Amino acid sequence: MFSGTVKGGASLCVFVLIVAYFYQRHADEVLQERLRDVLSGLLRAEKKVPVEAKRVAVGFGACEDIFTNGIALLDVLNITSPKEAVHQNLVNNPEELAQLFAFFFQSGAAAERYVANASLFEAMVEAGTKFKDHQWALGGNAPVMARRLGIEGFNVLLGARMGSSARSTIPDSVKVVGKSLSRSDVHLIMEYKTNDRWGQFTSPRANRLILHNDQVNPFLDGMEEFLDKVLTFKPSLLVIGGLQMMDNFPDEKGIRFARLEKLSKFLQTLPRSTLVHFEMASFTEVSLLTEIIQRVVFYCDSLGANEQELPNILQVVQGKNVTLVSDQKPRVATVLDQMRKLYSLLGNTPETDGMRPLTRIHVHTLAFQAILTRPDSAWKNSMSAAAKAALTAHRHTCGEDDIDATKARLIMDGSFAVSTVEIEAEATASKSQSRIFVNNQRPVSCWDEERKHPAHICVAPVLVCTKVLKTAGGGDNVSSAGLVFQI
Ligand SMILES: *[C@@H]1O[C@H](CO)[C@@H](O)[C@H](O)[C@H]1NC(C)=O
Ligand SMILES: *[C@@H]1O[C@H](CO)[C@@H](O)[C@H](O)[C@H]1NC(C)=O
Ligand SMILES: *[C@@H]1O[C@H](CO)[C@@H](O)[C@H](O)[C@H]1NC(C)=O
Ligand SMILES: *[C@@H]1O[C@H](CO)[C@@H](O)[C@H](O)[C@H]1NC(C)=O
Repeated sequence: MFSGTVKGGASLCVFVLIVAYFYQRHADEVLQERLRDVLSGLLRAEKKVPVEAKRVAVGFGACEDIFTNGIALLDVLNITSPKEAVHQNLVNNPEELAQLFAFFFQSGAAAERYVANASLFEAMVEAGTKFKDHQWALGGNAPVMARRLGIEGFNVLLGARMGSSARSTIPDSVKVVGKSLSRSDVHLIMEYKTNDRWGQFTSPRANRLILHNDQVNPFLDGMEEFLDKVLTFKPSLLVIGGLQMMDNFPDEKGIRFARLEKLSKFLQTLPRSTLVHFEMASFTEVSLLTEIIQRVVFYCDSLGANEQELPNILQVVQGKNVTLVSDQKPRVATVLDQMRKLYSLLGNTPETDGMRPLTRIHVHTLAFQAILTRPDSAWKNSMSAAAKAALTAHRHTCGEDDIDATKARLIMDGSFAVSTVEIEAEATASKSQSRIFVNNQRPVSCWDEERKHPAHICVAPVLVCTKVLKTAGGGDNVSSAGLVFQI
């Protein structure tokens, strides 16, 4: 009798295991089916509108990126994990490097910093080149964006100074303005994967820390020549990025601000027929970012940012300090609220003295893409643009143009709230609109908001790559993919 109970218990156990197995298999199949539906839905949305090849000008800066495994690099340099992760505006020595790397690594936040110690930086690059798996690639915001737009068939003018090897990787459809350099500036990309460990620190998501000791790009070298060419090129769109190279660059503020003033003067006289997009980046110097907002962003129609950069610019626009790290997996509702806030602050800039109201905001996050446009503005096809941006995010990080649903996962839920604050009755047409259920067959959700500042918003889920090859340059690639259908 005793043994009978044991036997009965054992068979129940086996039964439970079998049920659990089939349940798990069923759950996996449901998940795979959702992934496949979302993928084909995004691909359909991407194909829906044809690319109208336009003229686009992109500035500033170029460099050659060396990609390394961040932790392996610290190991060969005998730089051990610090007791504490501490933020540094710039890097002077190995101790500060260790503290800074740990700071961003433990939160999985993207960042870019200046290394003031040239010999330390050279030693790092030198050590990086000794790794068998290190890679060189064309870098800098402008060249990455220009190349993406060139691949899409656009006629592109790129303002950048670079060496001949970097130049040779630029497609023919991109015309480079800027004197050649004997050697491009080098930026070091220290990549890490999800759950990598360094001492007591663990990374919650794949990302990278970029370091540089750039002596050319902080001064927007060659800007005059480029801006002259823009006037005769008459592009439909001018894209401005790379201004973060000025961040914490050790010079008198006067020189950098004078360069920004020159750019500002140009933007003030640029005809309305050229739309202007500003690509945000990693900034820590509040006085510099304030200057950029006043002299550049006020003259732009569109802004691109990731989940770190959006709260940062929003804080500074509101007269507050910079944010060093924000949630790296924010909820849709949180991001949309930040976008609405920024739009309400910059969307009604008076159109005097060449200033432009902000009419488009594109935010790229790991889990989703969100695009906000003013309904009566020139920006079109937001749904296809959000789909293309979401697909590009996967293609870039997985390093493959053909998306394999088995190398993807969805982080975004099947439904999302459109705002974290209780939406007032008059704000939305009906109560049911405060939560949106994602239709897997038509995964990009778009809607209009009749608030004080009317907006058209589209949100697309990202098929997050599970076999990450590359994170650096992703934002630029995704942001320019988002612009392709909108002009
Ligand atoms: C790191 O330490 C090892 C062992 O102590 C030594 O052989 C090597 O030269 C050091 N590397 C550097 C870059 O200092
Ligand atoms: C620069 O870095 C080197 C290590 O590469 C270090 O020995 C030196 O002290 C640093 N210089 C300064 C001024 O901190
Ligand atoms: C802004 O934040 C930085 C970094 O946290 C800090 O060093 C700086 O003192 C702050 N500035 C102001 C004006 O509060
Ligand atoms: C951008 O992403 C595409 C995939 O769509 C990839 O082929 C390309 O290499 C990426 N470009 C850069 C400059 O990283």
